[in-house]
Amino acid sequence: MEVVVKETAEQMSRLAAEMIADVVRNKPRCVLGLATGSTPEGTYEELIRMHKEDGLDFSQVVTFNLDEYVGLPGNHDQSYRYFMNDRLFDHVNIRPENTHVPDGMADDIPAHCREYEEMIDQAGGIDLQLLGIGGNGHIAFNEPGSSLASRTRPKTLDEKTRQDNSRFFQSMDEVPKYAITMGIGTIIEAERIILLAYKESKARAVSCCVEGPVTAMCPSSALQLHPAVTVITDKAAAGKLKGDYPDEPRRLILGR
Ligand code: F6R
Repeated sequence: MEVVVKETAEQMSRLAAEMIADVVRNKPRCVLGLATGSTPEGTYEELIRMHKEDGLDFSQVVTFNLDEYVGLPGNHDQSYRYFMNDRLFDHVNIRPENTHVPDGMADDIPAHCREYEEMIDQAGGIDLQLLGIGGNGHIAFNEPGSSLASRTRPKTLDEKTRQDNSRFFQSMDEVPKYAITMGIGTIIEAERIILLAYKESKARAVSCCVEGPVTAMCPSSALQLHPAVTVITDKAAAGKLKGDYPDEPRRLILGR
């Protein structure tokens, strides 16, 4: 596991965007796994800038998002489909039909989850997966206790996660209780993974992810079993790490 500690969230976002852009340039038909939430917003802004100013071409890129709230349609402003359109897809030349976000309104959610896995397989698997991390160590909506071999499935959200995400809703009652999420087994099949974390509120989670034992109680610790993970943090989120980590990755050129 490679850990890179940057001074600021802006520097983190620029590095993550450069790494994603490398994959897109090296493999124009690449498959990107994407996350929502506050953490990747700066990375998406930088990718939009690279598209507009440097011509970064998304015309053949295929994407799969990690998760979606059950019960929120794609036009709800807190749905993850809405988030992705608003923060990235509507501003680059990606084909809407190449973007995939689980459907929180699917009639048969377990069947939809199986189809989602099949679609990832048919696309050739994920070349680069971008992740944030929850304060409880979750990745996607794989809450503590999730099987480290789990696949895409419906999941009950932890109260801590609902409270963390309530900042986006009018009241706690409106925060969905269930989500569809890629499993940890799904995520760690990606060729490469970048996990981003900034702010002190993520320091404990980053420490359990990077330096703790591999345990379902800290789902992100499963990333230690993956051969090509880069964890990029700011100083505050690295605050509880014991190791001494560089501010640049060992390699910048990615792609299969
Ligand atoms: C979002 C996701 C979540 C978030 C995590 C951190 O698609 O999968 O695991 O990455 O909850 O959220 P933020 O970035 O809002 O702190």
